[in-house]
Amino acid sequence: MIPDTLRLEPGGTLCGRLRVPGDKSISHRAVMFGALADGVTEVRDCLMGEDVRATIAAFRAMGVAIEELDQGRLLRIQGRGRDGLITPSTVLDCGNSGTSMRLLSGIVAGAGLKAILTGDDSLRRRPMRRVTDPLEQMGARITTQANGNPPIKLAAGAALHAIDYALPVASAQVKSAILLAGLFATGTTKVTEPAPTRDHTERMLTGFGVRVERVGNQISVDGGQRLTAAPIVVPADISSAAFFLVGAALAAATEVVMEAVGINPTRTGVLDILRLMGADIRVRNTREIGGEPVADLHVRASALHGIEVPRTLVPLAIDEFPVLFVAAACAKGLTRVTGAEELRHKESDRIETMATGLRAMGAQVTTLPDGMEIIGGPLGGATIEAHGDHRIAMSFAIASLRATQPLTIHGWATIATSFPTFVDLARAAGMRIHPA
Ligand code: S3P
Repeated sequence: MIPDTLRLEPGGTLCGRLRVPGDKSISHRAVMFGALADGVTEVRDCLMGEDVRATIAAFRAMGVAIEELDQGRLLRIQGRGRDGLITPSTVLDCGNSGTSMRLLSGIVAGAGLKAILTGDDSLRRRPMRRVTDPLEQMGARITTQANGNPPIKLAAGAALHAIDYALPVASAQVKSAILLAGLFATGTTKVTEPAPTRDHTERMLTGFGVRVERVGNQISVDGGQRLTAAPIVVPADISSAAFFLVGAALAAATEVVMEAVGINPTRTGVLDILRLMGADIRVRNTREIGGEPVADLHVRASALHGIEVPRTLVPLAIDEFPVLFVAAACAKGLTRVTGAEELRHKESDRIETMATGLRAMGAQVTTLPDGMEIIGGPLGGATIEAHGDHRIAMSFAIASLRATQPLTIHGWATIATSFPTFVDLARAAGMRIHPA
């Protein structure tokens, strides 16, 4: 059991070689595509956090046999083929996971199954029109709450047709939901993104034998294509590694090495932003595993300085802003982030929840409708609320490395969604963390 309140001792060092768990985005897709494929898909190093478990449970409810072998390090998925999913007998509870809900909406709509998708308090507050609108345009029959929030109710039997859709916001989840629905539709489905977002769906579908085309910012798939099972090895999650990248940059570290981290260029905004701030990060031993680039990241402590974060990097680092705000609060001078309104629609409103916690620690923070201004300075102790958001909890754990007093974090258990082993790894690297 993960304790819900933690006390973190101030200061400390970080060092050693760390292997963070598998990439969450890639793990979700491996389960989904394995379930839809013809044949048996084996997934090694899948993240077995609560979010991916919600995806696994949803596919089991739709008739897919998924076995956990080798103490959870290997998943074996008996694909049912593109048209083999069955109507779920239960509500599909996506828990805290936006990726489960949005991608499943595309698949369930495509399969023409009757289903209800719901989630926890946090997920039921998140916007879903961004995915139900285009799916309705494709012919799906969907209802949500009046404000567009979950539960999402899909009616049976709707046959889909392709659309040509310009995404109003840069979102890999929405892009993926439409492309996945497009596999079941008549015609060629086209999605144009306003800025590049993570492309794991496109890469993994290609690995499963699906033709996915990209021309500029437009991605298209022909309907009627089938997926063929393929083995997957999941790289370590750069979004989880980000906590230790920032921690190692901030703490009095010798050197921290993060092993086998996914460095897909649609995910490495965090490296670019930290380097612009003066971080010493080296990328070593780059190789490709299953269509995704992977490398070992070597980080040393360095004096960070504030920057204006380039807007083009925002979608490429969208999940890392909570911990980047911590880096900014410890950097010399002003850091300004704009163009990041999406942060208000994550597991919490990450602009407000981070600003509240950083101010409690004594930081100078101004919130903007689409970002934040932070002037770095000394950080004291505080009591922090995670607001049901794993990345808020872990970001403040990292902030304790530069605090002058202990930090108490409430709502810690939420980290089980993406990084259940955070405390073990953090302790092994030198952090002093106790149940409060
Ligand atoms: C994800 C896409 C991002 C990200 C989320 C995972 C994915 O969301 O924040 O944690 O796996 O496609 P958006 O696509 O909504 O920006």
